[in-house]
Amino acid sequence: MTEKKRVHIKTFGCQMNVYDSERMMASLKADGYAETQTPEDADLILLNTCHIREKAAEKVYSDLGRIKKIKASNPDLQVGVTGCVAQAEGGEIVRRQPLVDLVIGPQAYHRLPEMLRDLKPGEAVVDTDFPIEDKFDHMKDGRKSMPLSAFLSVQEGCDKFCSFCVVPYTRGGERSRPVAKIIEEARHMVSLGTREITLLGQNVNGYHGVDEAGNEIGLAALIERLAVIDDLWRIRFTTSHPNDMDDALINAFRDIPKLMPFFHLPVQSGSDKILKAMNRHHNRASYLNIIERLREARPDLALSGDFIVGFPGETDADFEDTMKIVREAGYAHGFSFKFSPRPGTPAFDMEEVDPEVAKERLKRLQDEINAVQFEYLDGLIGKEVEVMLDKVGKYEGQIGGRTPYLFPIAISGDVGKLGDMVYATVKGRNHATLLG
Ligand code: SAH
Ligand code: SF4
Ligand code: F3S
Repeated sequence: MTEKKRVHIKTFGCQMNVYDSERMMASLKADGYAETQTPEDADLILLNTCHIREKAAEKVYSDLGRIKKIKASNPDLQVGVTGCVAQAEGGEIVRRQPLVDLVIGPQAYHRLPEMLRDLKPGEAVVDTDFPIEDKFDHMKDGRKSMPLSAFLSVQEGCDKFCSFCVVPYTRGGERSRPVAKIIEEARHMVSLGTREITLLGQNVNGYHGVDEAGNEIGLAALIERLAVIDDLWRIRFTTSHPNDMDDALINAFRDIPKLMPFFHLPVQSGSDKILKAMNRHHNRASYLNIIERLREARPDLALSGDFIVGFPGETDADFEDTMKIVREAGYAHGFSFKFSPRPGTPAFDMEEVDPEVAKERLKRLQDEINAVQFEYLDGLIGKEVEVMLDKVGKYEGQIGGRTPYLFPIAISGDVGKLGDMVYATVKGRNHATLLG
């Protein structure tokens, strides 16, 4: 028997890429490849890339530089670039780095096996089509074991066109996978050991998939359908857009116990002027109104957000509005980024804020987010929380788990084994890790 070819996949960017990489790996394994964690041992290296900010996109080229050295000692090595940089830059990648054999955009992964078969040395193949068929319908799912907590893509693409963002261009328009496919995949994942599923979509709450009866259903109804799966304990979803929040989804946080009380709802800015320039179609008041309704439905909801500082035109006063919304909305968690001008987006040509000013604003915002996060976590001290044990402890006599609020907790004592659901009393915290 000939030895199996070995494939190494390196993943950048968001959870959608993590999920896509898992599916590509499963499909390649079904075609006889073996996985390797070491690029030096690989016959095929795939870089699954992210285009969201300049730094993310440039990482690809520094990695390709390193791969060039590996290829010098292994001339048969095949190299592919997948993901959002592949979609955005296409054949330009091969011109910049001729060692690349394969460039495949996010909607064409089902063609990977045949492209690999047909690959000829020295002739790069580029496929950045947006075919009508669903790639996952045509990708073999040979997954044989699954982690306790796993991702499941239900929706892809975005029609929102925020003026700073590349995603509508790299992932294409909004599409939802059919309900039956999602339920079948969820059941399969649960049969392989998964107990917590995070539903993924670039605009996951804009989900509108077709069910068996031919009716379109929204995300809340999909979650209801998934919640009946016996051994599925926890459901989460990300990322949502404020304008796609409906009453059904808000009420789902009240009515579906398996839906966990942690919710990521990016606001981007606290200034109405900047939100308008960002083409967000919501304002500060409408955002805060959603949060209020969510809290009525689920008083213990932990809220998370994304923020961009230094968007073109952002004055000190605009930035102060962002600082203020952090406490007004009552975040438990947040990601903040310095605006990065992306080619092809409307904000690319707008006049930039002084980089030093932007840097200082980012620092202030991050300090504020850390402060509210610690206050939030301190508020949990003394409370009893349900914990899914999912990690060996860092220290002797400890075991790690996740609270419903997503924050990790390290529990001391002989409380159970990995995969158990237990109750713990929060005793304190070490940075962002709770202690129980
Ligand atoms: N679909 C998701 C994820 C988008 S990317 C959503 O709508 O939230 C994740 C985050 O990256 C965004 O929420 C935004 O805060 C940030 N981001 C996107 N484009 C950016 C840019 N050009 N510069 C800086 N941050 C950006
Ligand atoms: Fe990008 Fe805006 Fe779409 Fe999110 S909603 S993916 S930030 S365009
Ligand atoms: Fe990056 Fe594409 Fe995700 S740009 S954040 S990998 S959708």
